[in-house]
Amino acid sequence: MADGARRAVAVLGSTGSVGVQALDLIARFPERFEVVALAAGRNAELLSRQIEEHRPRLVAIAEESGRKRIEPAARRARCEIVTGPEGLLATAAYPAADCVVAAVVGAAGLPATHEALKAGKIVALANKESLVMAGDLLMKTARDTGALLLPIDSEHSAVHQCLRGCRGEEVRRIVLTASGGPFRTASTEELARATPEQALRHPVWDMGKKISIDSATLMNKGLEVIEARWLFDVEADRLDVVLHPQSVVHSMVELVDGSVLCQMGVPDMRAPIQYALGYPERFAGPVAAPDLESLGPLEFFPVDRRRFPSLDLAYAALREGGTAPAVLNAANEVAVGAFLSRRLEFPGIPRVVESVLRRHRPAPVTSLASVLEADAWSRGVAEEILSRGGAS
Ligand SMILES: NC(=O)c1ccc[n+]([C@@H]2O[C@H](COP(=O)([O-])OP(=O)(O)OC[C@H]3O[C@@H](n4cnc5c(N)ncnc54)[C@H](OP(=O)(O)O)[C@@H]3O)[C@@H](O)[C@H]2O)c1
Repeated sequence: MADGARRAVAVLGSTGSVGVQALDLIARFPERFEVVALAAGRNAELLSRQIEEHRPRLVAIAEESGRKRIEPAARRARCEIVTGPEGLLATAAYPAADCVVAAVVGAAGLPATHEALKAGKIVALANKESLVMAGDLLMKTARDTGALLLPIDSEHSAVHQCLRGCRGEEVRRIVLTASGGPFRTASTEELARATPEQALRHPVWDMGKKISIDSATLMNKGLEVIEARWLFDVEADRLDVVLHPQSVVHSMVELVDGSVLCQMGVPDMRAPIQYALGYPERFAGPVAAPDLESLGPLEFFPVDRRRFPSLDLAYAALREGGTAPAVLNAANEVAVGAFLSRRLEFPGIPRVVESVLRRHRPAPVTSLASVLEADAWSRGVAEEILSRGGAS
C-alpha cells in the first residue's frame, strides 16, 4: 500500500460467495482497506445490509427494478445508485477505487473485468471466466495500462506465491491440484444418475452454484488451466492437473532442476483473497496455518479423464485458441443451467459442450465485441441442442 494509505476497494459480485468473504476480510482490517463501491445482481436484501455496514460511495444493482429496494439503505449511507450493465462498468472503473475484486460469476463478469483493467486498477480476479474467454486481450490491456492482475482462485494464488522469486526459464511446468469434487470416486452409472443436490455438495469448499457444478464435472479445473495459461504465460503442454482430495496443497510449480514448490494452507478462500487484496504485503489474518501433526496423509492421483471428459474439452479449446475457449465457456454455462433446472442429465453437460465446440470454427479474438459475439453464438447453439433433447 502506497505511503501506508488505505487501499480503496470496489467489490463486484459482493453478494456472492467470494464477494461476502472479501467483505468479511476487508471489515477486519479498517486500517488497511475501505470499501468504496459495491455491485451485485439481484440480491437487494443482502446488498442493502452491505451498504449499511460498509458505507460505499457507489453501488450497482443489475436490474433497474432493484433500485427501489436498495434506495433506503443507499440514502442513509449517502451512496449513489447505478443500474444495469453500464452500472456494473461504472463500479469497475470507479475513479476512487484502487483495487477491484472481480467476483461476478460467469461471462457476465467479462466486460467489467476488462473495464477495470482499462482503468489501470489492481484487479483481484475471482471471475476466471473472463480470462478463459478473453485471456490474450485482457493480459494485453493490463500491459498497456499498467493494471495489476492478481488471482483469487486458490490454485492460481498458490502458483503466484510459488513463482515469487523464480525466473521464467526456471519453471518446467505448473501443476494445478483438484479436489475431485463430490463425484471423485463415483462410477459411470452413478454419474449418469447424479442430481443437482448431490453435485452441489462439494466435499471441501462452500461455493456458488455454478462453480460447484463445474467442480463436479471438473470443468472448473479445465477453466483454471486456461486461466493459468494467461496469468502465468505458460502453454498448455506445461500445465498439468493432479487430484489431491485433501485440498491442502493448493497447487505446485515444478522447476527445471527437479524441485517442486508447493503452497499449503487450510481450504479457506479468505486466505487467497487476503493475499490478493494485500499484495505485496503479508500480514496476520483470520486464517490459521494447517495443523501439520493432525493433517494425516496427503494423497495425489491422476485424473480419470474418461469419467471427467470436461477437462480434455478445455485443453482442446485452449489449444484451438481464438474464440474456442469463449465458446467452451458459454456452452458450459448453458449446460450447467440446464442441469440445475433438470433439463439435462449430469453426463449431458460435457456432451453439450463438445457438440457446440464441434460446430465452431474458431476466429481470432480481435476485440471484446468478437468474444461476446462468439459467446452469444455458442449460447444459441447450446440452447438449440438442448431443445432437441441434449447432445447425442
Ligand atoms: N466461491 C468460491 O469459493 C470461488 C473460488 C474460486 C473462484 N471463484 C470464482 O468466483 C466467481 C464468483 O463465484 P461465487 O461462487 O462467488 O458465485 P456466486 O456465489 O454465485 O456469486 C455470484 C455473484 O455475481 C453476482 N452477479 C451475477 N450476475 C451479475 C450481473 N449481471 N451483474 C452484477 N452482478 C452479478 C451475483 O449477484 P446476486 O447474487 O445479487 O444475484 C453474486 O454477487 C466465479 O467466477 C467463480 O468461478 C469462486
